Amino acid sequence: MKLLTVYGSPTPPGKLARALGLIEEDVRARFPGWQAERLSPQTTTDPVVAIWEADAVDRVREADAVVLASPVFRGSLSGTLKLLLDTLPGEALRSKPVGVLTVAAAPHHFLSAERHLRDILAWFGALTVPNSAFFVDRAFATDEVSDDVRCDLGEFTEQLTVLTERLSGHRFGPDPLHVRMSPPAGR
Ligand SMILES: Cc1cc2nc3c(=O)[nH]c(=O)nc-3n(C[C@H](O)[C@H](O)[C@H](O)COP(=O)(O)O)c2cc1C
Repeated sequence: MKLLTVYGSPTPPGKLARALGLIEEDVRARFPGWQAERLSPQTTTDPVVAIWEADAVDRVREADAVVLASPVFRGSLSGTLKLLLDTLPGEALRSKPVGVLTVAAAPHHFLSAERHLRDILAWFGALTVPNSAFFVDRAFATDEVSDDVRCDLGEFTEQLTVLTERLSGHRFGPDPLHVRMSPPAGR
């Protein structure tokens, strides 16, 4: 099975990249039959703008499970990640297990990007896993990441792999809003 980690920051490598690296290592070490790949945007000369390559949509569509990782920017998800989400067709995440990982400078911003991401994932009818992962950015300031943080990341990864293995292939209804509101073909 394939876990795709989506790196939603325009400024690599950064703290979010370090968090994703630990998840990817953990998948390879602890979950036989799983592979982990990262989808990252291409940076530009602008410090807050990065763009996705043409195969990004297919890579999301083909993944069995996805981690959406975003820094908190202005109390929400990054524009970089939103750009990818706006490009995806509705079916790309339908009934797919998706975990939300966010980092911020301020601890009191712990729900700010997550709640927006959950709204967007509901639009897709994604299987958003119940427990998201949030960390203050200084937790990943160096390679010396604490055992507590590693433990939280491990539980987050396990949640995603277990739910995917148990629920893979199920298509859950009712249809999400964007399907119900679409006109029937031919009209
Ligand atoms: C444009 C911008 C906006 C930000 N807005 C917030 C914010 O609203 N709340 C917060 O706690 N941190 C905010 N931060 C801090 C980042 O969320 C934090 O430093 C994060 O670790 C950046 O991810 P990175 O290290 O992977 O690049 C902001 C940073 C930038 C560059």
